Amino acid sequence: MSPQDIPTDNPAAVIILAAGAGTRMKSRTPKILHTIGGISMVGHALAAAQGLNPGKLAVVVRHERDLVAAHVGGLDAGVILVDQDEIPGTGRAVQQAMDALDARETLNGTVVVTYGDVPLLTTDLLQELVAVHNADNNAVTVLTAVLDDAAGYGRILRDAADGTVLGIREHKDATDAERDIREINSGIYAFDAAVLRSALKRVTTENSQGEMYLTDVLGLARNDGGRVAAVSTTDRWQVEGANDRVQLAALGAEHNRRIVEGWMRAGVSIVDPATTWIDSTVQLEADVTILPGTQLHGTTTVARDAVVGPDSTLTDVQIAAGAEVTRTHGTGAIIGEGAHVGPFTYLRPGTVLGADGKIGAFYETKNVTIGRGSKLSHLGYAGDAEIGEDTNIGCGNITANFDGVNKHRTKIGSGVRTGSNTVFVAPVNVGDGAFTGAGAIVRRDVPAGALSLTVAPQRNAEGWTAANRPGSISADAAEQAAATAAN
Ligand code: UD1
Ligand code: CA
Repeated sequence: MSPQDIPTDNPAAVIILAAGAGTRMKSRTPKILHTIGGISMVGHALAAAQGLNPGKLAVVVRHERDLVAAHVGGLDAGVILVDQDEIPGTGRAVQQAMDALDARETLNGTVVVTYGDVPLLTTDLLQELVAVHNADNNAVTVLTAVLDDAAGYGRILRDAADGTVLGIREHKDATDAERDIREINSGIYAFDAAVLRSALKRVTTENSQGEMYLTDVLGLARNDGGRVAAVSTTDRWQVEGANDRVQLAALGAEHNRRIVEGWMRAGVSIVDPATTWIDSTVQLEADVTILPGTQLHGTTTVARDAVVGPDSTLTDVQIAAGAEVTRTHGTGAIIGEGAHVGPFTYLRPGTVLGADGKIGAFYETKNVTIGRGSKLSHLGYAGDAEIGEDTNIGCGNITANFDGVNKHRTKIGSGVRTGSNTVFVAPVNVGDGAFTGAGAIVRRDVPAGALSLTVAPQRNAEGWTAANRPGSISADAAEQAAATAAN
């Protein structure tokens, strides 16, 4: 067999319908750009479609066309964007997509149609649909589900005798008897390209909604003698669309439940799945522990034996093996092996903490590289700085990096010990092995091995409390102390 003879289930094209207005979202953001698990709904649709390795991938747009087009183009530059005209309906949307796909050369083989607002649909289920369609040489194969409440959906009409699919009736056009049918059209199909092209020429807008119904293609294909069949899924979530924000949240929760379950099965301990939110783009290794109230977003990665949480929100953060990140809000940070962060720590972009390092309670960091074993344990700000190895930054230290106009850098060497409340007035360099005294204001470079002190003389005004706060708790305490000392 030559390569082109090897049977393949890759469809010739996938068409994603995304022209609808989505008015029930009541949003300035187009419906399909609303996100679930950190990815837009149309992003989920694209990912599921890409998994089929289709020859071509088209997205039909109309509502908020430019916003949607820019977003889709950013996710996949290879997508063919198709503009739907004013003729309404799913049939028109697919017809215009077929025209665009046929423009260079006429498409042959299987064409899959899906929606931009069905975010839990997987490549696996699409693959099953295409496999059945191809294996049975169907003209059309529709993905269906049996729902307790089928209201609003198109219903699958089947032959009473042999159960074969006769067609689809839209809810608004259905009789009472047809409305009792609980098998619904998901709106996801595999078509033979030639059948689809030919049938769409005969689809009209003569129905209760005055739209070109894609669903009419099934009846037409059958009348032409084609095999029309259904693949029914028991996983209703995979065919459910989000029309409003209530459905969006329900789908988001289910999506998260699936991701969290997947990680637990892969060896991650997740103490409280209900309060743990993990984007589809996050990567975790086995033996990671996630404590309750933790949200992991974007390109966050967590390596083996690390513990994250409780109550931490991390976006695009890389956590190395064995690190602990407790009650932390972080974005764009890198945390080294065995390092400790938190509790109550704010990591901003460009924070790089070396192995076995520490950024402790009530610290804010930004654009700072901290060497192996260095510790910033309590209360402070480190920004636009570079800190060497095995350095201890005292409590309450601050890099004064901003002069009101420009940002400046602080460079602190290795083996440095800084006193509490040291302020580094950048730009400034502190050499290896240097010390600073408590309250030092470091305005000039400190040579390696030096002690930097900012000395303001201390004066004690004896008897000040008795004279200035007579009768107060403090004056009483001072009087007691004087009496005790006198005895
Ligand atoms: C459609 C199906 C219905 C099915 C249901 C599943 C038709 C006629 N009906 O109904 O049988 O049970 O989906 O959810 O197909 N779209 C366009 N251009 C248009 C109209 C719609 O691109 O002119 C897109 C929408 O953006 C959406 C999808 O097609 O992603 C479905 O449109 P919608 O109006 O929600 O179809 P339903 O009436 O719900
Ligand atoms: Ca719909």
